[in-house]
Amino acid sequence: MSLQGKRIVVGLGGGIAAFKAVQLVRELMRRGAEVRVAMTDAATRFVGPITFAGLTGEPPVTDLWAEDYAGEVHVELGEWADAVVIAPATMNLMARAVTGQANDAVLATLACARGEVFFAPAMHQRMWSHPATQKNVDTLRDRGAVILGPVTGPLANGEIGEGRMMEAEDIAEGVESHLTHAADLAGTRILITAGPTHEDLDPVRFLGNRSSGRMGYAIAAKALRRGAEVTLVSGPVHLPIPMGAAAVQVRSAEQMHEAVMSRFDQHDVVIMAAAVADYRPAQRAPHKIKKGRNLELELVRTPDILADVGAKRAQRPSVLVGFALETETLEEAARGKLEGKAADLIVANDARDGLGGDTNRVTLVDGNSATPLPEMSKHALANQILDRVRALLSARSPQPSPKAEQGPPN
Ligand code: CTP
Repeated sequence: MSLQGKRIVVGLGGGIAAFKAVQLVRELMRRGAEVRVAMTDAATRFVGPITFAGLTGEPPVTDLWAEDYAGEVHVELGEWADAVVIAPATMNLMARAVTGQANDAVLATLACARGEVFFAPAMHQRMWSHPATQKNVDTLRDRGAVILGPVTGPLANGEIGEGRMMEAEDIAEGVESHLTHAADLAGTRILITAGPTHEDLDPVRFLGNRSSGRMGYAIAAKALRRGAEVTLVSGPVHLPIPMGAAAVQVRSAEQMHEAVMSRFDQHDVVIMAAAVADYRPAQRAPHKIKKGRNLELELVRTPDILADVGAKRAQRPSVLVGFALETETLEEAARGKLEGKAADLIVANDARDGLGGDTNRVTLVDGNSATPLPEMSKHALANQILDRVRALLSARSPQPSPKAEQGPPN
């Protein structure tokens, strides 16, 4: 069975969809998982804990103050689980998770979770589309959680809208597909660049670009989830460093160049998602530039980091991935960069729809093929890129597994 040996906590928030969590527990158990249940106080008003005790053979954790839980129950459950699945994830529960509250069984378990975390949201469509909820969902995703749903359909009040919890079987399917390739990059060392660079004009001004860093950070979070060792070389962004990544913070293209060149040959894979400035001011004024007549700036080229790694690599990295942002002749331009920079894969971003959205439409271009992918979230795309990286690693190695290729991690 596909979830054989996996330990899963199902955490319930207080919503009418709680009844579907009963089916979810059954479905996860049917697939071979060992399941324990945690419930908020509100959840116990929708479904009786005794139902879950009957199904799983263990009473759900509902109250951190109960006498038979004396000890470390708030830590134990999160430590024990390979995955925590919050279903239903209500507006309130997600908001509390975002702010790091840990004052009930579900939130304490989440706070101590060492494995994969899933949220299956369920709420009225206006609560779902509320900016607070949307921001919270983004934050949870940026921290590495997987959001399953919601779907559009009849809501509790009879209206049709987006906010309905996914069906138990679909949630179980989502959990299973994430957990089964959970460790397929174990032992692989990946260096990722992310974010913009800032090129200083003087002590208070710089030239920059609008890169948010979210693509590179999403790849880092997914690679960590899949067992890789990750070095994240990041330009200035406002994102939390994914837990477990070795972070190197830089500002300018030159600093990023130096950070990458001194590390690339210790990595099996290098993925350059950063939007590196192509030019910097020829001089950085030591004092704030005073206004006067028109100012002429001389700009000089920055080093092309991707091209430099491509030119200097020997044994490592086995796989070199670049990004390209194009508004026309997407595939042709990407192929030019693939060859010009000696990369193995170019993620060609179609910029015709504008920039800075939550989703991307890309074409993956390698030596043999160009594969257009449908529009998808940066997190879904991160997994697709890593799937392709894994295939390239396997193709370069006589053994199928990247772990076998590199020997045991040191
Ligand atoms: N890149 C880099 N160093 C630079 C500029 C770009 O490593 N100084 C990397 C980016 O991280 C990205 C890839 O090169 O992975 C493509 O960047 P892009 O700016 O699209 O391509 P350029 O080769 O600079 O071409 P152009 O801007 O002319 O399209």
